[in-house]
Amino acid sequence: MPELTVVVPTYNEAPNVAALLRRVDGALVGRVDYEVVVVDDNSPDGTADVVRSVQGEYPVRVVVRKDERGLASAVIEGFRQAKGEVVGAIDADLQHPPEKLPELLQKVREGADIVVASRYESGGAIEGWTLGRKVVSRGARLLAYVFAPSSRRSRDPLSGFFLLRRSAIEGVDLRPVGYKILLEILVRGHVGRVASVPFSFADREAGQSKYGVREQVNYLRHLARLMPADKGLRRFLKFCLVGGSGVLVNMGLLWLLTEVAGLFYLVSSAVAVECAILNNFLWNDVWTFRDRRAAGWRARLGRFARFNVFVLAGLGINVAFLWLFTERLGVYYLLSNLIGIAAATMWNFLVNSRWTWGAGPPRP
Ligand code: GDD
Ligand code: MN
Repeated sequence: MPELTVVVPTYNEAPNVAALLRRVDGALVGRVDYEVVVVDDNSPDGTADVVRSVQGEYPVRVVVRKDERGLASAVIEGFRQAKGEVVGAIDADLQHPPEKLPELLQKVREGADIVVASRYESGGAIEGWTLGRKVVSRGARLLAYVFAPSSRRSRDPLSGFFLLRRSAIEGVDLRPVGYKILLEILVRGHVGRVASVPFSFADREAGQSKYGVREQVNYLRHLARLMPADKGLRRFLKFCLVGGSGVLVNMGLLWLLTEVAGLFYLVSSAVAVECAILNNFLWNDVWTFRDRRAAGWRARLGRFARFNVFVLAGLGINVAFLWLFTERLGVYYLLSNLIGIAAATMWNFLVNSRWTWGAGPPRP
């Protein structure tokens, strides 16, 4: 059994694939027990035949799919056929340097579940792309970070070059549309530790990219499919719902204490705010972050104290934005307040998920 299976998706890569296999072999032979699985979608240019012609020289198999097309699904097919405990993907067109494979593998051996070869790391780069495609790539990444927040664990969640421990996808139903297989795995997989290795995305030497408007549309469809599955996004929505319930508690108590109990409204407000904080804390503790809390009352009190501090700071952020947008930018004050609430919500979510209900060490 090889330790590593490298999957190479191909469509019309006849001029590139032999050189790729040679460079993969050059990087791994004698150091790593590996195999390559080329998944070709019946390329009319004879890519599969080129692979077969070098089968005597390198440990490579070719799988030809006749009734399916698509980069991501091709990679999944390759993973299905893989024998290695570590599996990964690399493009056939030499834009991903195979010489990085040993370094990637080393990080898996050291305990990472996924290692991403990343363009967006110091030391990483992109050669030869037009400004337009660079902007599209950054924009696509931003969309992923917003709508599939699990992807934030990598600086380059859209990379097509990565390795992973097979256990990260075992039993996981992967069904991406289009190109972005790594994104699919980051969102749906059992992913504990993510590591990265910077690389320089080279210019294509021969053949043509298959990336175009069609793939951009596929990407949006893919994101729409991933959104409801993303644990990070679901958690954020829960957090917002709990926040909404806090507003109701705050308003209700303010009214009750002022009108019924006859307290001065600012006194009522102080009580109402603290009760809303307590309400939010409890719901977040038993619902939003249920899977993350340590047991025991002392720990819970500690979390409550932290939550209080962060939320009060959030209130400060809300007021600061209200002031800034209204006084300095001339925005209508109710709109400024909405912006302030949005900023405070982001702050509250980020700091509390990190320090109040911190993930702690990854569980096995
Ligand atoms: N089997 C199969 N089926 N392979 C395909 C298909 C397909 O429909 N479409 C593309 N491929 C193969 C290509 O033959 C090549 O080996 C690889 O997938 C990448 O395709 P390109 O068309 O060259 O993509 P790119 O260079 O624009 O973008 C690549 O690199 C980016 C940076 O890492 C992709 O891997 C992107 O997903 C990635 O973000
Ligand atoms: Mn390419």
